[in-house]
Amino acid sequence: MALSLMPMEKHAPIGIFDSGVGGLSVLRHIREAMPNENLLYFADSAHAPYGDKTEQAILDRTLAIADFLLQKNAKALVVACNTATAAAIKAVRNAYPALVVVGIEPGLKPAAQHTRTKMIGVLATSGTLSSLRFKQLSQQITTTTEVHFVLQACVGLADQIEKGELNTPATEALIQRYLTPLLEQNVDTLVLGCTHYPFVRPLIEDIVRRLTSNPITIIDTGDAVTKQLVRVLIEHQLRETNTPPGTLTAFTTGDLPALKTTFFNLLGLQPPVLKAGTT
Ligand code: DGL
Repeated sequence: MALSLMPMEKHAPIGIFDSGVGGLSVLRHIREAMPNENLLYFADSAHAPYGDKTEQAILDRTLAIADFLLQKNAKALVVACNTATAAAIKAVRNAYPALVVVGIEPGLKPAAQHTRTKMIGVLATSGTLSSLRFKQLSQQITTTTEVHFVLQACVGLADQIEKGELNTPATEALIQRYLTPLLEQNVDTLVLGCTHYPFVRPLIEDIVRRLTSNPITIIDTGDAVTKQLVRVLIEHQLRETNTPPGTLTAFTTGDLPALKTTFFNLLGLQPPVLKAGTT
């Protein structure tokens, strides 16, 4: 399955993927920071959500998608999914040692630097929160600081966002149910540990305002991941030098019109959307 890597070119595209549309919250930062890069976006919507799948299942999907994007000549891979990063980034790096691979993880470190109450709420999938990688990251921080992470698996929330339900009563009820116990424990910082969640950030902010008058900071790592991507592309002399705009092509294992609609609704973009040929 692993391809032998050809020497990469600056003009080659960056491959970005997620279980579904969550990675669009990362793609928007990447486009803003590097409007001249050519991008491929892969939504594995036929297999979403990843949050409650086994690590092995996520690993298999991630390697199949990496393979697909490399066949499309990707010069770098962005795993724009916290759950897939936790389960599979090590395996991707082992399979493609010469490839630039950037993943996304919940912003525990910036949250620890920011909190005053020392109580930090982490919203993520159960897959991310139960992963060894997450446990190691949180332990590293809790052994060297006095912060406490209050973990909240947001079962069903990525699904609501996949369906485009960014502001419906059902989504609101779900978020309120997940936020209430965190705010009762005096968290002053909320980490969005899933790339789908930035799309319901306005609703999260509204609900927070209703539940508490204390100031709450929300941490999203889409921007930090983009900065990291820029750094590694420059380091590997892979940063595109053409003038903007770069191209954008999307692939999905799911429904083509659904992804087209989501691109337009969430980002105002109308890229070509093609059926992905992975099983
Ligand atoms: N967007 C993904 C993440 O960042 C996962 C959502 C899901 O498929 O459960 O974790």
